[in-house]
Amino acid sequence: MTENTQARIFALIPAAGVGRRMGGARPKQYMEIAGTPMLTQTVRAMARASRIERIYVVVSAADAWIDEVAKDFPDRVTVLRAGGAERADSVRGGLMAANLPADAWVLVHDAARPCVRPSEVNHLLDEVLADSSLAGGILAVPMADTVKRTDARRQILETVPRANLWRAATPQLFRAGVLLEALSAGSEGITDEASAVERLGLAVKCVSCRSTNLKVTEPGDEMLAGLILEEKTMPQTVAVPEIRVGQGYDSHRLVEGRPLILGGVTVPFEKGLDGHSDADVLLHALTDAVLGAASLGDIGTHFPPSDPKWKGADSRRLLAAVIELARAEGWTVVNADATIVAERPKLGKLKDEIRASVAATLGITADRVSIKAKTNERMDAVGHEEGMMAHAVVLLARLPR
Ligand code: CTP
Ligand code: MG
Repeated sequence: MTENTQARIFALIPAAGVGRRMGGARPKQYMEIAGTPMLTQTVRAMARASRIERIYVVVSAADAWIDEVAKDFPDRVTVLRAGGAERADSVRGGLMAANLPADAWVLVHDAARPCVRPSEVNHLLDEVLADSSLAGGILAVPMADTVKRTDARRQILETVPRANLWRAATPQLFRAGVLLEALSAGSEGITDEASAVERLGLAVKCVSCRSTNLKVTEPGDEMLAGLILEEKTMPQTVAVPEIRVGQGYDSHRLVEGRPLILGGVTVPFEKGLDGHSDADVLLHALTDAVLGAASLGDIGTHFPPSDPKWKGADSRRLLAAVIELARAEGWTVVNADATIVAERPKLGKLKDEIRASVAATLGITADRVSIKAKTNERMDAVGHEEGMMAHAVVLLARLPR
């Protein structure tokens, strides 16, 4: 077992900034992200890395919000009112207040990075602790964009090759003693712990993390962090249903001595429609519309008039059968709209009954069914009461398969 595998590991979260760029009534670490203060989210994220013995949160002496927020911290957390004017001062003040052994490893992590993953923290620990030539390491994002250097007027001077360029993130991992020494040498030009340690000429490694480990800095960043933390609520790819419309038409002669059946309803009239089945002209138009939308042929191919099986058949059975065929292909009926063309009788009050009957046969609610009736203005065969016609459209939908 090497010395490093026995290393004690701590975390230190500087949270003494004022969040000037974010603005707002409170420092940004107290903003709610996904319903929880950012600092709590960050502490929880670090606490999920189980190798960390204790987490120190460094706030300013005058901080008025920490006591309320710290009530929800896990047991492993200690709050230190040791913050300073600059981030480096807060880290240094925290290290001194925590009084850690010089050889203990410290993960310094921004309070403003609530989206770090425990796997990323563990990756950093593994890479740094396995290599005794390193003074430490940091999480960093490999540069993905093309990088430009400009002059003061923002005109491009050059394109900087992005190979070996990284955006430094946190946690940054160093031994407490090394870090204190590095931070005690003045804070000029020091924007993170690594830059202070680099100044001592020590080896520091970049360990890659995802760009989701963002620092909440400006207004809007908190929404992005919220989306990352609530991965579940991120917009999913919406499955757009496939929709198909079908059209149907039918006509039958009117004859004496047959009942008039429209949409499965027996309509009082002195004549009825003639046909092999019950000659329900409306249901036949609807049946063809369903078959048409599903591209499943037509009524004749499924129920040939030559087949004695369909003699006198209740057309509701035919329509129900083609609905089943369409369902087997994944289709559901969205709506149906139909027009009956008949010179007589007036369908007036019966239309609602027909509508309900059709809806029941289609297996949908009546508000998705429309039944209209027209005369043919005494023109042509239908106008001369020789027969009736019906037209229908049906819309089918299914989710992509
Ligand atoms: N920080 C700190 N002490 C300071 C300044 C910063 O502990 N004197 C902490 C912040 O609370 C934050 C982290 O260092 O968790 C990163 O700093 P930054 O994102 O710059 O936060 P602020 O300094 O608060 O923001 P701003 O620079 O916009 O004022
Ligand atoms: Mg700052």
